[in-house]
Order: sequence, then structure tokens, then C-alpha cells
Amino acid sequence: MLEVNNVCVSFRSERQEKLFGTTRDQVLFDVSLKVPKGTCLGILGESGSGKSTLGRVICGLLKPDSGELKIHGTSVYASRSGRKNLQKRLGVVFQDYTTSANPRFRVKEIIAEGLSARERNQKVRLNRIEETNHLLELVGLNASYADRYPHELSGGQLQRVCIARAVACQPEIILFDEAISSLDAHTQVQIMDLLRELKEKLGLTYIFITHDLTSVTYLCDDVLFLYHGRITEHIPVSHIAETKDEYAKKLLASMIEFD
Ligand SMILES: Nc1ncnc2c1ncn2[C@@H]1O[C@H](COP(=O)(O)OP(=O)(O)OP(=O)(O)O)[C@@H](O)[C@H]1O
Ligand SMILES: [Mg+2]
Repeated sequence: MLEVNNVCVSFRSERQEKLFGTTRDQVLFDVSLKVPKGTCLGILGESGSGKSTLGRVICGLLKPDSGELKIHGTSVYASRSGRKNLQKRLGVVFQDYTTSANPRFRVKEIIAEGLSARERNQKVRLNRIEETNHLLELVGLNASYADRYPHELSGGQLQRVCIARAVACQPEIILFDEAISSLDAHTQVQIMDLLRELKEKLGLTYIFITHDLTSVTYLCDDVLFLYHGRITEHIPVSHIAETKDEYAKKLLASMIEFD
């Protein structure tokens, strides 16, 4: 359903090594992956390994230097319609739910951002209030939250609102970039249960970027390890203990120590 083929990304370097022209730092090297419909792919790697950069390529925000992103076989970066096609099908939830939700908006207006994206796509008029309440319920909040502002919610509640906003566009795929990392362990489990439930109910496909092994084993079907911008291993979560890859082993060992 979603395919990344031989993607390379570099950024302009801050270092001035040459007198003329600029040097570039390569962040992703020849990255390829496939996400079948209805599955959840976890992307693991240490800080700076290029996870968010890959996430930005996947959600249509960063055109790679080379390689391509395909959704249902259609290339995303080749044309404007390709990007539109992706926008229709993909929702995103970021880590920083405090800044990704406008503090001056009420919960119902935050969710409406997702709804209007869908209206643009489908040219349908919705009963906004009913729809918002339904979405709130879907993420485990009741209708009384609709009139609150972000600062009147806990982190976990606000992240649920951001999930509702992503779901409002009726995406087929949702990308989560460290979406639950800053919540406490108990809330993380609650949100992961919610994500599992939504996945079943709505037939969603997930890409889950994280540096937390526990959430990968809890939620994902497959996992890939990213090390200095290269994929070192891509395996089913059920086989994670049998990995032969040195980096994956090291990362797993360090993560288990910290648990
Ligand atoms: N817009 C940019 N311009 C220049 N360099 C960038 C840019 N975005 C990312 N980088 C660099 O790319 C590398 C990978 O960053 P990225 O954010 O993808 O890492 P990450 O794996 O998401 O890390 P973290 O776990 O800390 O979120 C870093 O060295 C970063 O400095
Ligand atoms: Mg990141």
C-alpha cells in the first residue's frame, strides 16, 4: 500500500569546508520499505538516526534527493496530484501535541481542522457537532470536552484530541512520530489500546516512529531499525529476539537495561 524506494536525503551543511559552493550532510541512505494495508510498522533508532526525516518524506513534507514514495502504486513526489493523493490518504500525529494544537482553538475547532480537510476532499457537508462528538467518543472523551481549550486538558487528553483530528480526515494510513513518548507509562498504554481499537474499527494502517521498544512490541507487526540513516534490519516483531543485526542487538540490549 505504501512504498519507499531507495530514498536518499541530505541537508545543506553548516560547515564551510569548501571555499565555493556548499557541502551537504547526508541523513538518509538508500532507504526502502513497504507497509502492507492493515499492518503497523515500527521505526526504531537512536536520536539523530533520521527517523523524523524519514517520517517527513513519508508524509509528503520533504522531497527526497533521489528515490521515490508511492502510495497504491502512484508516485507522490512526481506531480502535484501525487501529493494531493497522499494528503487524502495519510494523517499525522506528532509528539508535540502542545504546539500542534493551536492554543486559541477550542477542542471542537481543532477537530474541525481535520473535518474541513475531508470536506475539501469529498465535497460533503457534515453535521459538524454530531461528527465532532462522535470523534471525541471514538477517542474515549465525552462531548463536554468540545468547548475546552488545550490548556484545560491533560497531555493524554490533548493527544487524544490530536488523534481525533487525524482520524477526522478519514485517512487510510496514520503516521505517529514519537506521538506518545512524552506521556507517562500508564497513559501510554491507554493510548496504545485506543490506537489498536481504532486500527481494527477503521481498518487503518500505521507507521509508528519511536525510541521505545515496549510500545513497538505492544503495537507493531514489523519493526525496522535505522542507524545513521541506513536500515540495518527489517523484521517481524515476533522475531525481534532472533535478530542477527549487531546494531539491533545493541539497541535492544540498551533498551532492556533501561526498562
Ligand atoms: N531541516 C534540517 N536541516 C538540516 N539538518 C537536519 C534537518 N532536519 C534534520 N536534520 C539532521 O538530520 C539528522 C537526523 O534528524 P532526525 O530528526 O531525522 O532524527 P531522529 O531520528 O528523528 O531523532 P530524534 O529521536 O531525536 O527525534 C540530524 O543529524 C539532524 O541534525
Ligand atoms: Mg525525531
